[in-house]
Amino acid sequence: MTQRKIQIRVASILLFAIVAVLTGLNEIPRSIAQNNASSVQQEKPFDQAQKLADLMKQIAGKENQPAEQVFKNIEMFKGVPAARLLRIMELGYSRSLGVNCAHCHVVDQWDKDDKPTKPIAREMAKMAQTINNDLLKNIKNLKGPNSIVNCTTCHRGQTKPALNLPDAAPKQ
Ligand code: HEC
Ligand code: HEC
Repeated sequence: MTQRKIQIRVASILLFAIVAVLTGLNEIPRSIAQNNASSVQQEKPFDQAQKLADLMKQIAGKENQPAEQVFKNIEMFKGVPAARLLRIMELGYSRSLGVNCAHCHVVDQWDKDDKPTKPIAREMAKMAQTINNDLLKNIKNLKGPNSIVNCTTCHRGQTKPALNLPDAAPKQ
């Protein structure tokens, strides 16, 4: 290659690089970075502690008012202080089933009954009440006096209560 040809090559490569920068080839990595940022935002895991803190702020000053006066769609917890309802949601429901709020709720639309698990939870509470009030009470000679079942009794951190002990391997 002659000296002149090499000079032309180098010049055209430089020109290409300059044009590339000016026409925004450098935008590509930036837009990829933006896409990543937005998908990271979408996939951000549900932060239950943060949601509970937000709700506590929303009901500030009304913590001890009956749930039905503070919230919109209360059938079961009438008369229960609003802050206590949130504790029940956290410990009695989420924890005992091994789930978070989103298992039963459209997050931030807490009054909606759109997810089947929410009405199921109401039916489950009725079932537990029937067991406690109508059945357990009538069994004689229990050690009691607090012979009751609650969500944890059956669920033990799972949505589907176990039928077998974990180590009950079938006999060969
Ligand atoms: C196992 C299902 C279940 C889980 C898990 C659950 N909830 Fe609920 N939640 C319910 C049911 C059922 C009601 C309706 C209670 C009633 O009828 O009195 C309710 C009611 C509520 C309400 C009142 C809404 C309104 O305006 O009527 C709020 C707020 C709420 N839940 C927040 C939460 C939060 C926060 C979590 C997570 C920490 C959570 N829940 C977890 C079933 C659930
Ligand atoms: C006597 C045992 C028992 C008690 C007490 C009980 N459950 Fe259940 N629960 C079950 C059984 C059994 C199922 C059905 C699991 C299956 O086959 O999918 C179930 C299913 C559910 C489901 C549906 C799970 C899913 O993700 O599909 C929800 C929600 C639920 N229970 C909430 C509750 C709540 C809230 C309480 C307390 C108020 C409660 N349960 C108390 C036995 C119980």
